[in-house]
Amino acid sequence: MKTKAAVLWGLQQKWEVEELELDAPKAQEVMVQLTVSGLCHSDDHLVTGDMPMNLPVVGGHEGAGVVVEVGPGVTEVEVGDHVVLSFIPACGRCTECARGRSNLCVYGAAIVAGPQLDGTFRFHARGQDVGQMCVLGTFSEYTVVPIASVVKVDKDIPLDKAALVGCGVTTGYGAAVRTGEARDGDTVVVMGVGGLGINAVQGAKLVGARHVIALDPVAYKRERSFEFGATHAAATVEEAHALITDLTRGTMADVCVVTTDSAEGAYVAQGLSLVGKRGRVVMTAIPHPTDMQVDMSLFDLTLYEKQVRGCLFGSSNPRLDIPRMLELYGAGKLKLDELITREYSLDEINQGYEDMHAGRNLRGIIRF
Ligand SMILES: NC(=O)c1ccc[n+]([C@@H]2O[C@H](COP(=O)([O-])OP(=O)(O)OC[C@H]3O[C@@H](n4cnc5c(N)ncnc54)[C@H](O)[C@@H]3O)[C@@H](O)[C@H]2O)c1
Ligand SMILES: [Zn+2]
Ligand SMILES: [Zn+2]
Repeated sequence: MKTKAAVLWGLQQKWEVEELELDAPKAQEVMVQLTVSGLCHSDDHLVTGDMPMNLPVVGGHEGAGVVVEVGPGVTEVEVGDHVVLSFIPACGRCTECARGRSNLCVYGAAIVAGPQLDGTFRFHARGQDVGQMCVLGTFSEYTVVPIASVVKVDKDIPLDKAALVGCGVTTGYGAAVRTGEARDGDTVVVMGVGGLGINAVQGAKLVGARHVIALDPVAYKRERSFEFGATHAAATVEEAHALITDLTRGTMADVCVVTTDSAEGAYVAQGLSLVGKRGRVVMTAIPHPTDMQVDMSLFDLTLYEKQVRGCLFGSSNPRLDIPRMLELYGAGKLKLDELITREYSLDEINQGYEDMHAGRNLRGIIRF
């Protein structure tokens, strides 16, 4: 069948919206009609090359929609079911899945590969195979995805809000709460309060953090963070350092979540300067792939037991934590509606990314 999608054909190019050929789902795959796709910063890393992936590719990895066709062997969902697409496929059977760490599932290697899990492509255009970001490709009216990426959700949950739980919400929340292990009474600082960081703020608030400091150079982000539970805001690391020193009488923060637009080596030392003894710096932003330099004092690690932790999908388990985030939303404890700053049509996708770079959006979405 034919579908309209946004394709990246080369580095530093614009997304091109065009008609593609989409194959029917093969074994253990489903076809989904997308309702909404979030505009996560990670798709922009495809454009810059920070997320190295074979091109061309249909972008997008934060989506929700309705199942319109199931491939052979699919028993978990049927046509008409509402689903959130997890940017991490989880098989449920590998060692990491069995350990309850399905964010590290063996299928993870596929997310920046291009083809489906069986090595073949579902999208085709201009006489070429076209890959799918995170085996999803949610910048498309229709897509075909592995059942491993699909999480069925209740039909009473609005799909446009649920889409954000496929990446930004769960990753940001989990970065603070699961990877960073923030808990009641803690002081949590979030460096970079965009689509992910704002959810680290909400996560810290939800578990009862005493102080939640939103650190971002953009005034709009700092202002909005108070709605989501920030108790203080700072524009620079120096400002945050003085503030946290004062608030904690020098014991400093328990957790620093780094959700900046990209990760720079210098942010590690900055994060370590903001946390106290056994404090955790949670590296969530995507770094430059060839960057091998990290600034930090090993004294911080040895003498204060400070820790630097990597974070993929907020150390979350898609099948447990995606429904759980939506239950928190249903209970009025997690804000999703307020995250969506602007809506775009698929044709306006490049405008959406311009607005992200200009700091105008907490999260922009494409509505199909
Ligand atoms: N690890 C994961 O599982 C995972 C998942 C999704 C996205 N990501 C990555 O997380 C990062 C954030 O994504 P996003 O969609 O929230 O991006 P975003 O563009 O919405 O937000 C980034 C924020 O960082 C702020 N910022 C930039 N430099 C800063 C600095 N030096 N100090 C403080 N704030 C700064 C910006 O003003 C902006 O508000 C990206 O690198 C993205 O690729 C990681
Ligand atoms: Zn994302
Ligand atoms: Zn697995």
